[in-house]
Amino acid sequence: MCGIVAYLGHREAYPILINGLRRLEYRGYDSAGVALINGHDLRIFKCKGKVSDLEAHVQDGNVKGTVGIGHTRWATHGPPNDVNAHPHQGNSGDLALIHNGIIENYAPLKEELIHRGHSFKSDTDTEVLVHLIEDIQFTEKVDLAEAVRLALDSVVGAYAIVVIDRKEPDVMVAARKSSPLVIGIGEQGEHFLASDATPIVEHTKNVVYLEDGEIAVIDRQKGLKIRNIKNQDKTPFIQELEMHLEALEKGGYEHFMLKEIHEQPRSIRDSLRGRMDLINSEVVLGGIRDHEQKFQNAKRILILGCGTSWHAGLVGEYLFEDLARIPVEVEYASEFRYRNPIVGEEDIVIAISQSGETADTLAAIELAKSRGATIIGICNVVGSSIARVTHAGSYTHAGPEIGVASTKAFTAQVTVLTLMALMIGRRKGTISASNFHRLINELDAIPDKVQKVLQSEAQIKYIADIYKDAPNALYLGRGYSFPVALEGALKLKEISYIHAEGYPAAEMKHGPIALIDEAMPVFVVATKGASYEKVVSNIQEVKARKGKIIAIVTEGDTVVKELADHVIEIPETPDQLVPLLSVIPFQLISYHIAVMLGRNVDQPRNLAKSVTVE
Ligand code: F6R
Repeated sequence: MCGIVAYLGHREAYPILINGLRRLEYRGYDSAGVALINGHDLRIFKCKGKVSDLEAHVQDGNVKGTVGIGHTRWATHGPPNDVNAHPHQGNSGDLALIHNGIIENYAPLKEELIHRGHSFKSDTDTEVLVHLIEDIQFTEKVDLAEAVRLALDSVVGAYAIVVIDRKEPDVMVAARKSSPLVIGIGEQGEHFLASDATPIVEHTKNVVYLEDGEIAVIDRQKGLKIRNIKNQDKTPFIQELEMHLEALEKGGYEHFMLKEIHEQPRSIRDSLRGRMDLINSEVVLGGIRDHEQKFQNAKRILILGCGTSWHAGLVGEYLFEDLARIPVEVEYASEFRYRNPIVGEEDIVIAISQSGETADTLAAIELAKSRGATIIGICNVVGSSIARVTHAGSYTHAGPEIGVASTKAFTAQVTVLTLMALMIGRRKGTISASNFHRLINELDAIPDKVQKVLQSEAQIKYIADIYKDAPNALYLGRGYSFPVALEGALKLKEISYIHAEGYPAAEMKHGPIALIDEAMPVFVVATKGASYEKVVSNIQEVKARKGKIIAIVTEGDTVVKELADHVIEIPETPDQLVPLLSVIPFQLISYHIAVMLGRNVDQPRNLAKSVTVE
C-alpha cells in the first residue's frame, strides 16, 4: 500500500528511483512521483497514473541529482490525481516528503497549521506532515532530523516516510511506525531506502530493517545513524538479504500471476524442504519446536488473517481439528481487533500473512499478544513486521509474490499448516503412525501432482473462453474444499471483476439456488472423498435448474463426467491435501478469463498487494 524508494550516493538518483518504483508498483499504482536535489535545486515531478506515466511526464525534464525520493501511491485521503500524488511540500518549497500509511490526527494538525499561516494544496494527510516538519524547523530553529523527530512525536497513525531538504542537500531523513522501511547499505557511501527489499537487492545485499519508532538519518559524510523518537541512539543491525534478482522478474511469462501459478511445484517443495523425514516418519518445524508443548496442551487455536490468507486459515481449521483434535476458530483479523475477543494465556494464535505487513493482522496480533496468547506466524516475507512481532513461526518459502492476486502464497500457507497439524497430531497421538506415514508420503508427492494439474492449462483456457462473459459465477465445495470455493470466487472477482460467490455446496439450497439458470456457471470441487456423494447430489440440483457445471474431479471419475458440462481432472490425493491441487484450476480459470477480458491481471483496479492501512 504505497511504495516508497529513496537514494543518496554518488550515482544519478533518477534511474535508481524509477527502477525501484517499478518493483514497488504492486503496492499501489494510481499516481507516482519523484523529487531530486541537484546542488541546492529541488525538483519534483509527479502525476496521476502508473510509473510509466511518470516516466512520460518526466521526459526531457531536468532530473539530475544524486539524492532523491520516489513514491507510487494507493490513495487513502483524496482521489488519485496530480495534486494528491507524492512527494508533498510545505509552504517554502524547501522540503519534499513521501509517505506510506495514514496520519490519523491530520485534521486537527491541519487546522492548527492553517491558523499559523500554512496553506494546503492537496486533500492528503501527508501534506500536513511536511508542513508540520517545516513549521518546527522554523519555530524551533532545528535541523531536518530533529524537526522530523519532534513532528512525529505529535503524530498519531502509521507511517514510513522519507524527507529531503534543499537547505541540507546531503542529508535524507526516514522514519517508520507500523509501515515497513528497509535501508540498503551499498558501497562508497551509497544508501537506498524502500518499502521492501525488492528495489534494493540489485544494488546491495546488506540491509537494515528499521524498527517501529526509529528515525534514520543518512548523511553523505557521516553515513547512517539511527535514533528513536525519544532521541536515544540505536546501533543499526545489518542483515544479509537472501533474495535473488531472478525471483523479481517475469522469467518469460506474460504476467507475474501466471509465473507464480506455474511456480507452485517449486514453492510447495521449498516450503516442505527439510521439514519432513520420510524414513523416520517425522515432521519437524524448527521455528515452533519450543512451543510444541503449548500446542499439544492447547484447548483452542485461533487463526487470524485477511483475504486469501484467511482462506488458508479455514483449511487450517479443518486440518487441526481433523489431525490434532484441537478446536479452531478462524477470524478475520479486521473483525477480531475491534471486538472484545476472549483470548488469553491458554490460547495459541496462528497469524497468517503473505506480506507480513497487513495492518489489520498486525493489530489483531498486538491485541492477542497483550492478553498473553502465544503468537505463531506463517509469513512469506522474511523480516516483515508480522514475522518480527510473533513469538515464533514458520516461513512459507514461496519466494516474492508480485502479482496482486495471491496464488503461490496460498498453497505455501496450506502446506505449512498441513505440516503443523501433522506435527502436533503426531506428538499428541491423535494420528496413528500408519496414517501419519501415509499423509507425509502423499504430501511429498504433491509438487509433482501440482505439475500434472498445470498440464491441463489448455483445457482450462478453453473453458475460460466459454464463460468469460458470464456476469456472475458460483463456486461450491464441501469440507476441505469449501475454503477452496471461497478462494476460487475471490480470484475471479479480484482480477476479472466478475461477481462471484463461494458457498458450502449444501448451503446452496438455502438461498443461492434461486440464482441458478442456464446462464450461471457453477464451479464445483467434486473429488472422491468423504463428501463425494453429497456433492454429486448438489451437482444434480444445479443441473435440474439448467445451471452450467464445471467440476474439478479425481482422475478417472465417470459419475460426475456424465452430469457436468466440463470436468477438469486432478490426481487422487487424501481429502486433507485436495486444496493444494483443486485450487490450481481455479487460479488458472480466473487468470485466463481476466486476460481474455483485457484486465490488468497483475495490478487489478482499486487493489494493492500489501494492505498497510485498515
Ligand atoms: C487476494 C489477496 C488478498 C490478501 C490479503 C492479505 O488475492 O491477495 O486478499 O490475501 O490482503 O494479505 P497478506 O497475506 O499479505 O496479509
